[in-house]
Amino acid sequence: MPSDAWIDELLSPPGRAILPELASAEVREENEIRTIDRLRGRYAPELVRLAITQSALRHRAKPKFSRADEMLFTAAGLEQASSERMARHHAARYDAFAPIRDLCCGLGGDLIALAESHDVTGVDRDPVHARLAGYNAQVNGVGARVAIVCADVADVPLSPGDAVFIDPARRVDDRRLRGGESEPSLEWCFALAARVAAMGIKSSPGIAVDVVPHDWELEFVSEGRELKESVLWSPSLRSSARRATVLPEGHTIVSGSGANVRVRASGRYLLDVDPSVTRAGLVDELGASIGDCWKIDERIGFLSSDAPIVTPFGRPLEILASLPWNLKRLNEALRSLDIGRADIRKRGSPVDVDELQRKLKLRGSRAALVVLTRVEDRPWAFVCVNYLLPPS
Ligand SMILES: C[S@@+](CC[C@H](N)C(=O)[O-])C[C@H]1O[C@@H](n2cnc3c(N)ncnc32)[C@H](O)[C@@H]1O
Repeated sequence: MPSDAWIDELLSPPGRAILPELASAEVREENEIRTIDRLRGRYAPELVRLAITQSALRHRAKPKFSRADEMLFTAAGLEQASSERMARHHAARYDAFAPIRDLCCGLGGDLIALAESHDVTGVDRDPVHARLAGYNAQVNGVGARVAIVCADVADVPLSPGDAVFIDPARRVDDRRLRGGESEPSLEWCFALAARVAAMGIKSSPGIAVDVVPHDWELEFVSEGRELKESVLWSPSLRSSARRATVLPEGHTIVSGSGANVRVRASGRYLLDVDPSVTRAGLVDELGASIGDCWKIDERIGFLSSDAPIVTPFGRPLEILASLPWNLKRLNEALRSLDIGRADIRKRGSPVDVDELQRKLKLRGSRAALVVLTRVEDRPWAFVCVNYLLPPS
């Protein structure tokens, strides 16, 4: 049986009828055996099994796709797909370019966003993903702008005028690739970049920064304070050497100001800088753009101030206690502050968070964040609250 036969099953009239029946929250909460029993009389058992799997994937896809309930997914394709917000952020770079080739298009996350304003060819060697990309583009109303080629990207003819987006696989045959590995490799992508007009390469947030050619841009993107990806932009798409972008709003900060923020002891507030900014090495640029703030250590990504800082690039914390790292003294501080629940945040500290959580004496009524870090190169602890959140 061809590997995409399950797509035909789900797109047949009974497949189109069963999926909406599984979409409601009550059905998802009911026992799977009960769902199977309820549907088995009316649908073939194999279709019921396929539909239950697809329905679970659609539910999992909702944070990424506004039309998840109409799209089709594989588990690996969904895990690696760019969210709608990320994909639109990528696509915005291509305003001045056409035609666009989305190499390694997967099930179409980036392809759909690119096709919102361009004609795009999507290429994937996996016949299931290639077919899903075409289907998902249609469901999202951009099918007319999309052509799909099922092939290895190495075999696809490209012209010097083409603009390329490529999102190499970081999983192959259900196996997650190690560290900096991808399929195709970054080296292959850089070689291809020399033959086309423009290229964006999506990569992991852990990328070794020294592999990026000096005339490219390296962007780190976070969503909801989670570092999600790096994107490498070739010279014609580049607008700075480094960039940090915070989604969903798309706030962005770039290198190049030569800012150098001073280091001194903490003030009353601490800014827990967004991981995209620290990963891009742009803490000084952020500090300089905010003004009236400083670093508490040369190498640590916290900024401090005497007045509250409100910025999309960090979480504002009010310091309730500041002390050299020592478990006994930390527990004394937590007791005197009436802290009964503590999350732990560490940056530049070797302390084992799980072990510390067990050793904290939390008997009070308030919640706090314990920050373990370094201050002027000494291990340090802060007890903080997020001052934008209501006190608990
Ligand atoms: C990370 S996913 C792409 C996700 C996509 N950007 C999205 O947002 O949905 C990578 C895809 O690359 C495909 N792939 C890996 N190596 C390939 C190759 N040499 N030629 C074509 N496709 C390839 C895989 O089949 C997989 O679907």
